Amino acid sequence: MAYAYLIWFLLCQFLVFVSEIQAKLPAVIVFGDSSVDAGNNNFIPTVARSNFQPYGRDFNGGRATGRFSNGKIATDFISEALGVKPTIPAYLDPAYNISDFATGVTFASAATGYDNATSNVLAVIPLWKELEYYKDYQKLLRAYLGETKANEIISEALHVISAGTNDFLENYYAMPAGPGSRRTQFTITGYQDFLSDIAQNFVKSLYNLGARKISLGGLPPMGCMPLERTTNLMGQHECVERYNNVASQFNGKLSGLVLKLNKELPGIKLVFSNPYFAFMQIIRRPALYGFDVTEVACCATGMFEMGYACARDSMFSCTNADKYVFWDAFHPTQKTNRIIADHVVKSALAKFL
Ligand SMILES: *[C@@H]1O[C@H](CO)[C@@H](O)[C@H](O)[C@H]1NC(C)=O
Ligand SMILES: *[C@@H]1O[C@H](CO)[C@@H](O)[C@H](O)[C@H]1NC(C)=O
Repeated sequence: MAYAYLIWFLLCQFLVFVSEIQAKLPAVIVFGDSSVDAGNNNFIPTVARSNFQPYGRDFNGGRATGRFSNGKIATDFISEALGVKPTIPAYLDPAYNISDFATGVTFASAATGYDNATSNVLAVIPLWKELEYYKDYQKLLRAYLGETKANEIISEALHVISAGTNDFLENYYAMPAGPGSRRTQFTITGYQDFLSDIAQNFVKSLYNLGARKISLGGLPPMGCMPLERTTNLMGQHECVERYNNVASQFNGKLSGLVLKLNKELPGIKLVFSNPYFAFMQIIRRPALYGFDVTEVACCATGMFEMGYACARDSMFSCTNADKYVFWDAFHPTQKTNRIIADHVVKSALAKFL
């Protein structure tokens, strides 16, 4: 009797163990801009690229993949921390196929935004097109694994959205005011609402395509990017307060949207992943994390270079990127990406495990 009970007990333990394994995330699927692009832009005609040195110099084997970083980007670290895989490949990269993408893929495109007008600035992939690629991906996945298994992956996978910075800094504030410019069409609050509506429609589209676990990413303190500090002549190269306030306000709207959609869409688990305060803490107290430099970036002079300019003047680049918060004038180093990813996993994404 006791023996049978022991067997029964062990069997139960085993089933709990198995269900825990199965409850793990099968894949991480990514949409957005350069914060999460792993090289899609290498395969479209645009200048928004980073598939050359010194980009990637601290990546596996020093490969410049098209990530805007000296190494990995935040979604690579998120995928790794959630036990999925150490890096997430780009959908347009022919070196990978559906057997790789079945456990994770990024449709992101550097220099894109929620707004179609933002992706037009440097002729990159608009967000609606990333969604079209995702539909194609679902077809490939069904052909590869069968309907049932593919649907299971889609509903269990973590879907990550990270965009918005470019809508403000590459488009709204950067494009000359004039007929058709967003600055002429919208107040800043109106533009935030316009973007937030697009984010809402995007989440609903993912939901209608079967996604249930979704992370909507907030904006970093974008007024602290080296490019913005360099041009802040009146403000002694401090962070641009106005841009940080816009990021905070927009984050407030996205966070409200997340609350609303969780009530509205049955079965959805939508979280708001907010990098703002963790990022601000790094910028205010860099020494706590072993950083020496926050105002300028590692690559080239660190004041304004990114993409091709970063490569052209790379003889000026720093030797140890781990001492720098920013890798180029617009993007964090791998080390910053890891800290932010760990924070977001602990504060928002751990509930998906
Ligand atoms: C994917 O690529 C691998 C390695 O190149 C190959 O062995 C495999 O057959 C491919 N799978 C599919 C489904 O195309
Ligand atoms: C963006 O462009 C796509 C394709 O032309 C269109 O379907 C979509 O409505 C546009 N989005 C907005 C917000 O205008």
